[in-house]
Amino acid sequence: MKPVEIKDNIYWVGAVDWNIRDFHGYSTYKGSTYNAYLAKDEKVALFDTVKKPFYMDLVHRLHNVIDPTEIDYLVVNHLEPDHSGSLKDTVEAVKPEKIYTSVMGAKSMAGYYKVDNWPIETVKTGDVLSLGKNSVHFLDARMVHWPDSMFSYIPEEKLLISNDGFGQHWATSERFDDQVDNGELMRQAAKYYANILMLYSPLIAKLLEKVADMGLEIDMIAPDHGLIWRNNPGQIIQAYQTWSKQKATAKALVVYDTMWHSTEAMAKAIYDGILDSGVSVQLMNLACTHRSDVMTEVLDAKAVVFGSPTLNNGMLPRMADLLHYMRGLKPTDKICATFGSYGWSGEAPKMMAAQLEEMNLSLIDEPVRTMWAPNHDSLKPCRELGQKIGQAVVEANLPPSCRAIYCGD
Ligand code: FEO
Repeated sequence: MKPVEIKDNIYWVGAVDWNIRDFHGYSTYKGSTYNAYLAKDEKVALFDTVKKPFYMDLVHRLHNVIDPTEIDYLVVNHLEPDHSGSLKDTVEAVKPEKIYTSVMGAKSMAGYYKVDNWPIETVKTGDVLSLGKNSVHFLDARMVHWPDSMFSYIPEEKLLISNDGFGQHWATSERFDDQVDNGELMRQAAKYYANILMLYSPLIAKLLEKVADMGLEIDMIAPDHGLIWRNNPGQIIQAYQTWSKQKATAKALVVYDTMWHSTEAMAKAIYDGILDSGVSVQLMNLACTHRSDVMTEVLDAKAVVFGSPTLNNGMLPRMADLLHYMRGLKPTDKICATFGSYGWSGEAPKMMAAQLEEMNLSLIDEPVRTMWAPNHDSLKPCRELGQKIGQAVVEANLPPSCRAIYCGD
């Protein structure tokens, strides 16, 4: 298993996971990678490890560069087990002179592993580790996306090792951004942001400002998941600036589940109404759309409409799942509405509306309900709701959809 030299004497020594399909609720249908990096200098440093089942991948790649016992320092940017799962084995094999991590990282390390005799040294923003020709500048990246998270910056190479930041869950044989389709790369980066980092958007916006104020020169960003940004790292920084402000585009989503296609007919009528305004709109049936793919679209949508029929005095389970997941990720500044068909009680639309209000998302109108199977006349309120939503999106005067995701506008 070959390492890849990403900079002079700095190597990618990670692992590619072609098989993972679920990352605690996030559909990783394109797999993922666990990136680790080795800097060979007067002192040798290994930045992060890999998920435990991939430990031998790491070892094989290291052996192609160096005898692992020659590693002096381990830098642990984050303790989540997809990056630290091989830490114990690595410490035992390498016997490092020092293990560098954040203060919170040291606490997490003690929580996960028996660290009694480990040579741990905590670091914070401003601390510098000399490797010889190169140096490592540590940068707190708290809540990107755990309290322990930090970045490692090597100024001599203008290289930012960013741990979970700027990552994508995408297994590829390629290692660099310019070797893959840019549209797919940005889509995977947006999905990663929407499903892992959206919740921390205010903190990420501040971190980006701090990095800009520090004037760091960056010509390569090496995350711990997915492709390395060497061609245009500014593209992903600009995208994060947009996403962290949750800037919307002129896009609407009609997300629904249905039992006997009555709620689906309402969804299509709302869709038609939105389309009357010329706004880009997507119809997303939860029976065939994963919650994490819905959230990717929510990231830059201005309007999101939720539909469910009533089952056992409540909403359908897939809609309850989506709303629960969405609540945790805290999207902001959306125009919302709810709808649903019913036979005799019809609580679901009101329940969905109540949950959206609890998330501080504004409802443009009262829930729209249709009894039994809708006909052309009873679908009229749905078309009118769609037109009202479409008009509100137009009046918000937003950029067209897709520009925010793909271009970082
Ligand atoms: Fe990729 Fe938070 O671990």
